[in-house]
Amino acid sequence: MSRIAIIGGTGFSSFEGIDWKSRVDTSTPYGTTSSPVMSGALRGINVLFLARHGEHHTIAPHRINYRANLWALKEQGARVVLALAAVGGIQDEYAPGVVVLPDQIIDYTYGREHCFAETGDEVVHVEFTRPYCEELRSVLNGVAEAVGVPLINGGVYAATQGPRLESAAEVNRMEGDGANIIGMTGMPEAALARELGLCYASLAIVVNFAAGRGGETITGEDMQSAFATGADNAYRILNSAVPRLVDLGFSLPVPLRL
Ligand code: HPA
Repeated sequence: MSRIAIIGGTGFSSFEGIDWKSRVDTSTPYGTTSSPVMSGALRGINVLFLARHGEHHTIAPHRINYRANLWALKEQGARVVLALAAVGGIQDEYAPGVVVLPDQIIDYTYGREHCFAETGDEVVHVEFTRPYCEELRSVLNGVAEAVGVPLINGGVYAATQGPRLESAAEVNRMEGDGANIIGMTGMPEAALARELGLCYASLAIVVNFAAGRGGETITGEDMQSAFATGADNAYRILNSAVPRLVDLGFSLPVPLRL
């Protein structure tokens, strides 16, 4: 069983460097996952991999079955989840090509299945003061420093509904709320991971300046070239981090039953 799972976002529908051993089409009590759960070895360590938007990038952020994805990973043994994501940067330092390790999140999404509890289940309140797993964040930050990959340790991730990008006024509002980066998939993924007791952190690659912050408009070509730089750095961090995660301890808050 593998304790470590990687969720690939836009641009990461597969993962280089993994020697694949199996792929399992997975259905869960919450429906089917975005892609088969792949299993393989990264530097000799068993890892799971799931493509959040599907193997051929066909599932929009608001249509992703986040519940099935996290449930399946947990069921297949995952305890640590490394989520890769492409984001827009708001302030100058969150520039295209930069990798960010966010430490906070604001949820602007709507209409998504955002918890596992169904009507009739006991009510559970998930502790979410620190929405990302600090133990995992600390390993990722330490590894980035050790291998010399520039990384911004901390940042507020604004999770938007998508799939459209934002208006300039929306970005101003989010900045006023304290946001630094904007993406479309961070929620409910982070909260569902917490609900399942998974140690979850995200490596966010800035692929564009958010609307109104860079050039007049955002183009796909600009995003792709920034992604290439950021993805290379994210791969380097993950490659070195995975062997150090095998024995990671957990001290996750327990869901509150009031
Ligand atoms: N906004 C929201 N999501 C994104 C962006 C953005 O500018 N870039 C990449 N994902």
